[in-house]
Amino acid sequence: MPSTAQIKIPATLIHGDGIGPEIMAATVAVLDALGAPFQWDPQIAGLEGVKIAGDPLPAATLTSIRNTRLALKGPLETPSGGGYRSSNVRLREEFKLYANLRPAQTLIPGGRFENIDLVVVRENLEGLYIGHEHYIQIDDDPHAVAMATGINTRQGCRRVLEFAFQHAISTGRKKVTIVHKANIMKALTGIFLETGLQIYQQKYQGRFVLDTVIIDACAMKLVQNPWAFDVLVTTNLFGDILSDLVAGLVGGLGMTPGANIGADAAIFEAVHGSAPDIAGKGIANPTALLLAAAMMLDHCKLHELATRLRAAINATFNIDRVLTSDLGGRASTREFTNALIKRLGP
Ligand code: NAI
Repeated sequence: MPSTAQIKIPATLIHGDGIGPEIMAATVAVLDALGAPFQWDPQIAGLEGVKIAGDPLPAATLTSIRNTRLALKGPLETPSGGGYRSSNVRLREEFKLYANLRPAQTLIPGGRFENIDLVVVRENLEGLYIGHEHYIQIDDDPHAVAMATGINTRQGCRRVLEFAFQHAISTGRKKVTIVHKANIMKALTGIFLETGLQIYQQKYQGRFVLDTVIIDACAMKLVQNPWAFDVLVTTNLFGDILSDLVAGLVGGLGMTPGANIGADAAIFEAVHGSAPDIAGKGIANPTALLLAAAMMLDHCKLHELATRLRAAINATFNIDRVLTSDLGGRASTREFTNALIKRLGP
């Protein structure tokens, strides 16, 4: 019988746009050095999909993920205003990736905030992200009025809240905060708050502390006293915004990974986008994608490899002091990657 180390795990690999190919090359090199048993099926999406296949989400990419049920994905560019619909949103819908798990931890002491250890759980399929939008023309202005419909369902709220509550319990977290705006969007985000309170009372009371906070106050409190939070669970748009905010507490977008978990697949990626302002310069920080790869290893129950990868990242930062420019250092993506691979050593 082959040993566990020899069993290959098929996984889809999407390099992505902008800095995507640079940070993905770094991540794959590190995973190879680690001996991670992924058997990659490279596919395209986003702007690269449009350029090569005339489609931001080609059928072959969907087929690959349908087969592997597992993907590591670089950032995908989405045009603002007009243009094609986000391939990220479409992937989440296609594979019912209802929970977006986004941890943020201080990895380099001495920054503006110390000892941050937060998790944002973002609802990934509903809310204002569903894209039910249109304009109304008045006289000769075709964009005189813009309208958007948000939809949150009881079932959708329940499954992401249950995911957050279960995650809190399985990882020994002490507190979950439901973030909402039920004072103004009484139905749209009221249903999320109401469902969370109900589930907690029915099934989870006493297993962790449940708190609730309005999104605007939450933003302020996260900056003033982030240590008062532990797990935050919230609706789609608020989760999107809060995860960038918490990234700012731990050194920026180069540091925060995300997992899109669903019934039919799991897709791992950085929280950040394609960073067109630094693309092609060889200076992007690959840490967020590397940490996403560590989450992917954990998802595949390869905990020892995930732990080794995180320890090597920590040593590269804090013992070798090799840092990319977004963290105040001078290392290029390649120099950081080489230092990290050296840390993984034989
Ligand atoms: P962004 O996250 O790409 O960049 C914001 C800022 O953070 C930029 O100054 C960038 O240089 C910096 N940054 C991001 N990642 C970095 C890294 N690894 N190392 C060093 N600096 C880093 O957000 P932006 O510019 O608003 O979006 C660009 C494109 O990315 C858009 O088309 C957007 O739709 C897309 N996007 C895709 C996401 C995904 O695929 N999951 C998520 C967010 C945005």
